[in-house]
Amino acid sequence: MYVPERVVTNDELGALMDTSDEWIQQRTGIRERRYIEPGQMPADLAQAACEQALEAAGLEVDDLDFILLATLSSQHEFPGTSFFLHEQLNAGNIPCLDLRAQCSGFIYALNFADGLIQSGKSRRVMVVGCEVQSTGIDRTTEGRDVAVIFGDGAGAVILEANEDENDSAGILDITVHSEGKHARRLWIEAPSSGHIPCRLTQEMVEKKLHFPYMDGRYVFKHAVTRMPEVLKESLAAASIKIDDVDLFLFHQANLRINEFVAQKLEIDDDRTFSNIERFGNCSAASIPMLLAEAERNGKLKAGQIVTLTAFGSGFTWGSAVLRW
Ligand code: UT7
Repeated sequence: MYVPERVVTNDELGALMDTSDEWIQQRTGIRERRYIEPGQMPADLAQAACEQALEAAGLEVDDLDFILLATLSSQHEFPGTSFFLHEQLNAGNIPCLDLRAQCSGFIYALNFADGLIQSGKSRRVMVVGCEVQSTGIDRTTEGRDVAVIFGDGAGAVILEANEDENDSAGILDITVHSEGKHARRLWIEAPSSGHIPCRLTQEMVEKKLHFPYMDGRYVFKHAVTRMPEVLKESLAAASIKIDDVDLFLFHQANLRINEFVAQKLEIDDDRTFSNIERFGNCSAASIPMLLAEAERNGKLKAGQIVTLTAFGSGFTWGSAVLRW
């Protein structure tokens, strides 16, 4: 994982908008987040995370045969961030693409990587989550609900075909869902390719349609329902009991959402792990960032059962069960 060095505290945001450290911590659990600095691009964050993943796996970029990058904050309208990452990694001509499933993006990307490997089309796939949200938020009181939760960061994992019958590590199940009828409850309306004659107008900018809009309460309500639901569905598909899970990792959107979900499923604190306090909500990057820190901190060890569960814009939601 990689996060930019610049730390932005709640008090720093409080100087720009009508909010407070107390409100943010009480409602979300967030103390600070990271923002990129001038000269840094999304692909730079992804590159740093990918280089660490390659080093940890003892692999070179030439050993990969696909790069899948999940993001909601693409470096440019097109092509996606993955192409700039590809250039920076000197990835020859292996395929890459951006995948858009917002905060559930990493779980969706894992699902595709799993499919590529199971079908025999790929042997080794790098799955990256990368977000730069700091440049896309309204840092005034009007945008405070969204602005205080988002942060920048990246994380990466490498999946490979495991044909060793004595090694049970791997993906036991991935279950994903969408419900497009809620798309406008959490979205960025502009630029829009359906807007004639131009995707982005001065009027759109004046109306702040290029900033995220979120119906926070509505999203919260759906998240605390869908996350336990899909987690149970995925565990059942993997024939794993909730008591047999060593570690539950939840998308870091709001600590209160995850506390709610954990309480609903009677999961005690020592079987969860969070880093939202330090990094805020990094959307598609939050789960690979959590995996990296959980492993580094000794929370996640080889052979353990870990679940990954997310909910986000679309709406999208999903859960994975892995043996680490
Ligand atoms: O990443 C995946 C998708 N995203 C999520 O899962 C996020 C889901 N939603 C949330 O986490 C929460 O809804 C928020 C943290 C965004 C907001 O918390 P809330 O407890 O739902 O607050 P609210 O939107 O109901 O607003 C309560 C009050 C309002 O004031 P009034 O109308 O009661 O006077 C807001 O204007 O809090 C106000 N408020 C703030 N006050 C200080 C909203 N944002 C802020 C803020 N600082 N940053």
